[in-house]
Amino acid sequence: MKMNGTYKRLEGKVAIITGGASGIGASAVHIFHEQGAKVVIADIQDELGQAIANKLGEDVCYLHCDVSNEDDVTNLVDTTITKHGKLDIMYNNAGVLDRPFGSILDTTKADLDRCVGVNLGGAFLGAKHAARVMVPQCKGVILFTASACTSIAGLSTHSYAASKYAILGLAKNLASELGQYGIRVNCVSPYAVLTGMNSKGLHEDVVAEAEVRATKMGNLQGQVLKPEGIARAALYLASDESNFVSGLNLVVDGGFSVVNPTMLKALKIVP
Ligand SMILES: NC(=O)c1ccc[n+]([C@@H]2O[C@H](COP(=O)([O-])OP(=O)(O)OC[C@H]3O[C@@H](n4cnc5c(N)ncnc54)[C@H](O)[C@@H]3O)[C@@H](O)[C@H]2O)c1
Repeated sequence: MKMNGTYKRLEGKVAIITGGASGIGASAVHIFHEQGAKVVIADIQDELGQAIANKLGEDVCYLHCDVSNEDDVTNLVDTTITKHGKLDIMYNNAGVLDRPFGSILDTTKADLDRCVGVNLGGAFLGAKHAARVMVPQCKGVILFTASACTSIAGLSTHSYAASKYAILGLAKNLASELGQYGIRVNCVSPYAVLTGMNSKGLHEDVVAEAEVRATKMGNLQGQVLKPEGIARAALYLASDESNFVSGLNLVVDGGFSVVNPTMLKALKIVP
Protein backbone atom coordinates (compact mmCIF):
# COMPACT_ATOMS: atom_id res chain seq x y z
CA MET A 1 0.00 0.00 0.00
CA LYS A 2 1.27 3.52 -0.86
CA MET A 3 1.47 5.87 2.14
CA ASN A 4 2.59 9.41 1.29
CA GLY A 5 4.49 7.88 -1.58
CA THR A 6 6.02 5.26 0.77
CA TYR A 7 5.22 1.57 0.40
CA LYS A 8 4.61 -0.08 3.78
CA ARG A 9 5.16 -3.80 3.60
CA LEU A 10 3.06 -4.77 6.65
CA GLU A 11 0.31 -2.15 6.45
CA GLY A 12 -2.82 -3.35 8.29
CA LYS A 13 -1.15 -6.48 9.73
CA VAL A 14 -1.18 -7.52 13.39
CA ALA A 15 2.00 -9.21 14.65
CA ILE A 16 3.15 -10.84 17.87
CA ILE A 17 6.92 -10.93 18.38
CA THR A 18 8.19 -13.09 21.23
CA GLY A 19 11.54 -12.13 22.71
CA GLY A 20 10.76 -8.64 21.39
CA ALA A 21 12.41 -6.79 24.27
CA SER A 22 15.99 -7.34 23.10
CA GLY A 23 18.28 -8.15 20.17
CA ILE A 24 16.76 -9.57 16.99
CA GLY A 25 13.22 -9.42 18.40
CA ALA A 26 13.53 -5.75 19.41
CA SER A 27 14.87 -4.94 15.96
CA ALA A 28 11.94 -6.80 14.37
CA VAL A 29 9.52 -4.80 16.57
CA HIS A 30 10.96 -1.52 15.24
CA ILE A 31 11.04 -2.67 11.60
CA PHE A 32 7.57 -4.30 11.60
CA HIS A 33 6.12 -1.16 13.24
CA GLU A 34 7.91 1.10 10.75
CA GLN A 35 6.39 -1.05 7.98
CA GLY A 36 2.85 -0.43 9.22
CA ALA A 37 2.13 -3.38 11.54
CA LYS A 38 0.46 -3.24 14.93
CA VAL A 39 2.87 -5.14 17.18
CA VAL A 40 2.47 -6.98 20.46
CA ILE A 41 5.81 -7.50 22.20
CA ALA A 42 5.92 -10.64 24.35
CA ASP A 43 8.84 -11.12 26.71
CA ILE A 44 9.87 -11.63 30.32
CA GLN A 45 12.08 -8.51 30.45
CA ASP A 46 9.22 -6.22 31.41
CA GLU A 47 11.11 -2.94 31.73
CA LEU A 48 12.86 -3.27 28.38
CA GLY A 49 9.72 -4.42 26.57
CA GLN A 50 7.51 -1.70 28.06
CA ALA A 51 10.10 0.98 27.25
CA ILE A 52 10.06 0.00 23.55
CA ALA A 53 6.24 0.06 23.53
CA ASN A 54 6.20 3.48 25.22
CA LYS A 55 8.68 4.83 22.69
CA LEU A 56 6.83 3.54 19.60
CA GLY A 57 3.32 4.64 20.64
CA GLU A 58 -0.18 3.22 20.54
CA ASP A 59 0.34 0.67 17.75
CA VAL A 60 2.87 -1.21 19.87
CA CYS A 61 2.12 -2.76 23.26
CA TYR A 62 3.97 -4.99 25.67
CA LEU A 63 2.70 -8.10 27.43
CA HIS A 64 4.58 -10.19 29.98
CA CYS A 65 4.70 -13.73 28.58
CA ASP A 66 6.92 -16.64 29.47
CA VAL A 67 6.75 -18.58 26.20
CA SER A 68 7.34 -21.87 27.99
CA ASN A 69 4.14 -21.38 30.01
CA GLU A 70 0.96 -22.35 28.13
CA ASP A 71 -1.32 -20.10 30.22
CA ASP A 72 0.89 -17.10 29.35
CA VAL A 73 0.85 -17.95 25.62
CA THR A 74 -2.92 -18.51 25.64
CA ASN A 75 -3.34 -15.12 27.29
CA LEU A 76 -0.95 -13.50 24.78
CA VAL A 77 -2.92 -14.66 21.76
CA ASP A 78 -6.34 -14.01 23.35
CA THR A 79 -5.32 -10.48 24.43
CA THR A 80 -4.08 -9.75 20.90
CA ILE A 81 -7.41 -10.88 19.41
CA THR A 82 -9.38 -8.80 21.95
CA LYS A 83 -7.26 -5.73 21.20
CA HIS A 84 -6.88 -6.01 17.43
CA GLY A 85 -9.52 -8.53 16.27
CA LYS A 86 -7.06 -10.78 14.40
CA LEU A 87 -3.53 -12.16 14.26
CA ASP A 88 -1.63 -12.10 10.95
CA ILE A 89 1.95 -12.82 12.03
CA MET A 90 3.21 -14.93 14.93
CA TYR A 91 6.99 -14.50 15.15
CA ASN A 92 8.29 -17.07 17.65
CA ASN A 93 11.71 -15.59 18.28
CA ALA A 94 12.33 -15.87 22.05
CA GLY A 95 15.26 -18.06 22.86
CA VAL A 96 17.99 -18.92 25.35
CA LEU A 97 21.50 -20.31 25.10
CA ASP A 98 22.66 -22.65 27.87
CA ARG A 99 26.32 -21.54 27.49
CA PRO A 100 28.61 -20.46 24.64
CA PHE A 101 30.31 -23.83 24.09
CA GLY A 102 30.68 -27.14 25.91
CA SER A 103 31.31 -30.84 25.56
CA ILE A 104 28.53 -33.42 25.80
CA LEU A 105 30.41 -34.69 28.86
CA ASP A 106 29.80 -31.56 30.87
CA THR A 107 26.33 -30.78 29.52
CA THR A 108 23.70 -31.44 32.13
CA LYS A 109 20.12 -32.60 31.69
CA ALA A 110 19.14 -29.22 33.18
CA ASP A 111 20.94 -27.45 30.29
CA LEU A 112 18.99 -29.55 27.81
CA ASP A 113 15.69 -29.01 29.64
CA ARG A 114 16.16 -25.23 29.65
CA CYS A 115 17.00 -25.00 25.94
CA VAL A 116 14.26 -27.37 24.90
CA GLY A 117 11.73 -25.87 27.34
CA VAL A 118 12.12 -22.30 26.14
CA ASN A 119 13.32 -22.65 22.54
CA LEU A 120 11.26 -25.61 21.38
CA GLY A 121 8.49 -25.47 24.00
CA GLY A 122 7.96 -21.76 23.38
CA ALA A 123 7.96 -22.25 19.61
CA PHE A 124 5.49 -25.12 19.89
CA LEU A 125 3.08 -23.21 22.16
CA GLY A 126 3.33 -20.06 20.07
CA ALA A 127 2.54 -22.01 16.91
CA LYS A 128 -0.29 -23.96 18.54
CA HIS A 129 -2.12 -20.91 19.83
CA ALA A 130 -1.47 -18.89 16.68
CA ALA A 131 -2.93 -21.76 14.62
CA ARG A 132 -5.98 -21.78 16.93
CA VAL A 133 -6.91 -18.29 15.69
CA MET A 134 -5.37 -18.42 12.19
CA VAL A 135 -7.11 -21.61 11.01
CA PRO A 136 -10.61 -19.99 11.20
CA GLN A 137 -9.19 -16.88 9.44
CA CYS A 138 -7.78 -19.16 6.69
CA LYS A 139 -4.59 -17.08 6.55
CA GLY A 140 -1.56 -16.17 8.59
CA VAL A 141 2.19 -16.42 8.93
CA ILE A 142 4.01 -18.42 11.60
CA LEU A 143 7.68 -17.63 11.77
CA PHE A 144 10.47 -18.97 13.97
CA THR A 145 14.01 -17.86 14.71
CA ALA A 146 16.02 -21.08 14.46
CA SER A 147 19.80 -20.83 13.92
CA ALA A 148 22.54 -21.40 11.36
CA CYS A 149 23.42 -24.39 13.55
CA THR A 150 20.56 -26.14 11.68
CA SER A 151 22.76 -25.94 8.57
CA ILE A 152 26.23 -26.69 9.84
CA ALA A 153 27.48 -28.54 12.91
CA GLY A 154 29.83 -27.43 15.64
CA LEU A 155 28.58 -23.86 16.08
CA SER A 156 26.84 -24.25 19.43
CA THR A 157 26.21 -26.49 22.40
CA HIS A 158 24.42 -29.80 21.85
CA SER A 159 21.39 -28.67 23.88
CA TYR A 160 20.99 -25.52 21.82
CA ALA A 161 21.56 -27.29 18.49
CA ALA A 162 19.04 -30.00 19.41
CA SER A 163 16.42 -27.41 20.34
CA LYS A 164 16.94 -25.45 17.11
CA TYR A 165 16.90 -28.54 14.84
CA ALA A 166 13.65 -29.49 16.54
CA ILE A 167 12.20 -26.07 15.70
CA LEU A 168 13.07 -26.64 12.05
CA GLY A 169 11.33 -30.04 12.13
CA LEU A 170 8.31 -28.47 13.80
CA ALA A 171 8.18 -25.70 11.18
CA LYS A 172 8.27 -28.14 8.26
CA ASN A 173 5.62 -30.36 9.80
CA LEU A 174 3.40 -27.34 10.50
CA ALA A 175 3.86 -26.12 6.92
CA SER A 176 2.45 -29.48 5.86
CA GLU A 177 -0.63 -29.36 8.11
CA LEU A 178 -1.43 -25.66 7.85
CA GLY A 179 -0.93 -25.11 4.12
CA GLN A 180 -4.53 -26.17 3.48
CA TYR A 181 -5.65 -23.17 5.57
CA GLY A 182 -3.47 -20.68 3.72
CA ILE A 183 -1.05 -20.42 6.64
CA ARG A 184 2.65 -20.13 5.76
CA VAL A 185 5.30 -21.44 8.17
CA ASN A 186 8.99 -20.56 7.88
CA CYS A 187 12.24 -20.19 9.81
CA VAL A 188 14.89 -17.52 9.74
CA SER A 189 18.28 -18.89 10.85
CA PRO A 190 20.97 -16.43 11.93
CA TYR A 191 24.74 -16.73 11.89
CA ALA A 192 26.43 -15.23 15.00
CA VAL A 193 25.05 -11.78 15.76
CA LEU A 194 25.86 -9.68 18.82
CA THR A 195 22.74 -9.32 20.99
CA GLY A 196 21.66 -9.56 24.63
CA MET A 197 22.22 -13.31 24.37
CA ASN A 198 25.99 -13.11 23.93
CA SER A 199 27.06 -9.54 24.73
CA LYS A 200 24.83 -8.31 27.56
CA GLY A 201 26.49 -5.51 29.55
CA LEU A 202 29.54 -5.29 27.25
CA HIS A 203 30.83 -1.87 26.22
CA GLU A 204 29.92 -0.91 22.65
CA ASP A 205 33.60 -0.94 21.58
CA VAL A 206 33.93 -4.54 22.75
CA VAL A 207 30.74 -5.44 20.88
CA ALA A 208 32.01 -3.74 17.72
CA GLU A 209 35.29 -5.67 17.99
CA ALA A 210 33.42 -8.95 18.45
CA GLU A 211 31.28 -8.15 15.39
CA VAL A 212 34.39 -7.66 13.30
CA ARG A 213 35.82 -10.94 14.63
CA ALA A 214 32.57 -12.79 13.80
CA THR A 215 32.73 -11.38 10.26
CA LYS A 216 36.36 -12.46 9.83
CA MET A 217 35.47 -15.99 10.99
CA GLY A 218 32.65 -16.09 8.44
CA ASN A 219 32.57 -16.27 4.66
CA LEU A 220 31.10 -13.01 3.35
CA GLN A 221 33.39 -10.05 3.97
CA GLY A 222 32.67 -6.32 3.80
CA GLN A 223 29.36 -6.63 5.69
CA VAL A 224 28.77 -6.90 9.43
CA LEU A 225 25.74 -8.92 10.54
CA LYS A 226 23.57 -6.88 12.93
CA PRO A 227 20.20 -7.82 14.47
CA GLU A 228 18.53 -5.68 11.75
CA GLY A 229 19.94 -8.04 9.10
CA ILE A 230 17.95 -10.90 10.62
CA ALA A 231 14.88 -8.74 11.27
CA ARG A 232 14.80 -7.71 7.60
CA ALA A 233 14.85 -11.38 6.55
CA ALA A 234 11.98 -11.97 8.99
CA LEU A 235 10.17 -8.99 7.45
CA TYR A 236 10.36 -10.63 4.01
CA LEU A 237 8.91 -13.89 5.37
CA ALA A 238 6.21 -12.02 7.32
CA SER A 239 5.12 -9.88 4.37
CA ASP A 240 2.99 -10.74 1.34
CA GLU A 241 6.15 -10.53 -0.78
CA SER A 242 6.81 -14.13 0.28
CA ASN A 243 3.19 -15.21 -0.33
CA PHE A 244 4.12 -18.60 -1.84
CA VAL A 245 7.03 -19.34 0.51
CA SER A 246 6.36 -22.00 3.14
CA GLY A 247 8.53 -24.65 4.81
CA LEU A 248 11.69 -22.60 4.16
CA ASN A 249 14.70 -22.32 6.45
CA LEU A 250 16.13 -18.93 5.41
CA VAL A 251 19.72 -19.14 6.62
CA VAL A 252 21.24 -15.67 7.01
CA ASP A 253 24.91 -16.52 7.31
CA GLY A 254 26.67 -14.93 4.33
CA GLY A 255 27.18 -18.40 2.83
CA PHE A 256 29.09 -19.69 5.88
CA SER A 257 27.25 -23.02 6.06
CA VAL A 258 27.68 -23.88 2.37
CA VAL A 259 31.38 -23.06 2.07
CA ASN A 260 34.20 -25.16 3.50
CA PRO A 261 37.45 -23.21 3.13
CA THR A 262 39.66 -25.58 5.16
CA MET A 263 41.39 -27.25 2.19
CA LEU A 264 42.21 -23.96 0.45
CA LYS A 265 43.39 -22.50 3.76
CA ALA A 266 45.65 -25.51 4.36
CA LEU A 267 47.08 -25.04 0.85
CA LYS A 268 47.39 -21.30 1.65
CA ILE A 269 45.39 -20.42 -1.48
CA VAL A 270 43.04 -18.27 0.61
CA PRO A 271 44.23 -16.20 3.62
N1 LIG B 1 22.51 -13.91 18.63
C1 LIG B 1 22.88 -14.94 17.87
O1 LIG B 1 24.06 -15.10 17.52
C2 LIG B 1 21.83 -15.93 17.43
C3 LIG B 1 22.21 -16.86 16.45
C4 LIG B 1 21.26 -17.78 16.03
C5 LIG B 1 19.98 -17.76 16.57
N2 LIG B 1 19.65 -16.84 17.51
C6 LIG B 1 18.28 -16.86 18.04
O2 LIG B 1 17.71 -15.58 17.88
C7 LIG B 1 16.64 -15.44 18.81
C8 LIG B 1 16.72 -14.08 19.46
O3 LIG B 1 17.86 -14.03 20.28
P1 LIG B 1 18.82 -12.77 20.38
O4 LIG B 1 20.12 -13.16 19.79
O5 LIG B 1 18.12 -11.57 19.89
O6 LIG B 1 19.06 -12.70 21.96
P2 LIG B 1 18.46 -11.72 23.09
O7 LIG B 1 18.85 -12.35 24.37
O8 LIG B 1 18.88 -10.33 22.81
O9 LIG B 1 16.88 -11.84 22.88
C9 LIG B 1 16.16 -12.97 23.31
C10 LIG B 1 14.90 -12.47 24.00
O10 LIG B 1 14.12 -13.64 24.38
C11 LIG B 1 13.59 -13.35 25.66
N3 LIG B 1 13.25 -14.60 26.36
C12 LIG B 1 14.10 -15.53 26.89
N4 LIG B 1 13.40 -16.48 27.51
C13 LIG B 1 12.08 -16.17 27.36
C14 LIG B 1 10.88 -16.75 27.80
N5 LIG B 1 10.87 -17.90 28.52
N6 LIG B 1 9.72 -16.16 27.47
C15 LIG B 1 9.72 -15.00 26.75
N7 LIG B 1 10.81 -14.38 26.34
C16 LIG B 1 11.99 -14.97 26.64
C17 LIG B 1 14.70 -12.60 26.38
O11 LIG B 1 14.20 -11.92 27.52
C18 LIG B 1 15.20 -11.69 25.29
O12 LIG B 1 14.52 -10.45 25.29
C19 LIG B 1 16.77 -16.61 19.77
O13 LIG B 1 15.82 -17.61 19.43
C20 LIG B 1 18.16 -17.11 19.52
O14 LIG B 1 18.30 -18.48 19.83
C21 LIG B 1 20.55 -15.91 17.94
